[in-house]
Amino acid sequence: MARANGKVILFGEHAVVYGVPAIAAGVDRGVNATAARADQATLAIGARHVAPDDGSDLGRAYSALLSAVDAPPMSTHVESRLPAGCGLGASAAIGVATARAVLDAMTEQDGTATEPPERLTRVLAAANAWECVFHGNPSGIDAAAAALGGTILYSREDGARSLHLRRALTLAVAIAGPPAATREMVAGVANLRARRPEIVDKALEGIHAIVRNAQLFLRDGDLPSLGQLMDLNHMLLSGLFLSTEEIEHACGLARKAGALGSKLTGAGGGGAVVALVRDPQPVIHAWRGAGFECFATTVTPGCDPDRGEHDP
Ligand code: PMV
Repeated sequence: MARANGKVILFGEHAVVYGVPAIAAGVDRGVNATAARADQATLAIGARHVAPDDGSDLGRAYSALLSAVDAPPMSTHVESRLPAGCGLGASAAIGVATARAVLDAMTEQDGTATEPPERLTRVLAAANAWECVFHGNPSGIDAAAAALGGTILYSREDGARSLHLRRALTLAVAIAGPPAATREMVAGVANLRARRPEIVDKALEGIHAIVRNAQLFLRDGDLPSLGQLMDLNHMLLSGLFLSTEEIEHACGLARKAGALGSKLTGAGGGGAVVALVRDPQPVIHAWRGAGFECFATTVTPGCDPDRGEHDP
């Protein structure tokens, strides 16, 4: 059984598309996949079945993934515990788990446990080919976070590196809106940049400074300062028209309930909100009271964290 994690972006989404580094943390909800050689390529995600030539984006993405690793026809089954289009990296996690399952079937071994660097490179190439069909211009952070887990610093130029945290982070995550298409949100920022480069470039500079400071605060375990940076990052993302009323409502409820900071995570325009908390209970209680689907997750300090999702 091949696996990949979902993720939340703690700092730097959208800016990462323009080369700014970003910080992502794996969540313990993920995707499982199995694959076997077959006469014809098919992909089942839950109850949905697609084939490479059926005209669907999923079919095209599966075809791109199989080509990226020179795979023969494969029948792949995927089970996802991540809501789609909510900024939790469901699409990339499906791409990574599918690539791993296909490589396992090609080599007739389970390579996920101790994935050698050359196999990881193939998995990421296949997952990025998959992502390109949906997102047009993915930075690659979602696929890297799905493949590596833990907390990573990612940039287009340098790829991913694991970050060591001084202290565990407790996060509360709410699904704050209707699913949003990453492709459209990324295109929205690109259009704004074409019309008003000074606004977008100032925001990108600000986000870059936030990511630099966040690395120091993660290293020092300074949770209140990290929370403030999340609020600041959210303000800059709102200035790029990526927030919605529901996202603002969820962020506001979290702060009122004692969160150290909160922000949209991922593409925005709907999707998920992440809050840094000392105790998830009051935030989860406030969100549930307002009808938001939500959960809490802990990111532990090591480079290869043993993360735990819990339901307080
Ligand atoms: O697809 P999402 O919602 O996880 O967002 C991905 C992060 C973006 O920075 C918005 C896009 C990208 O490719 O980095």
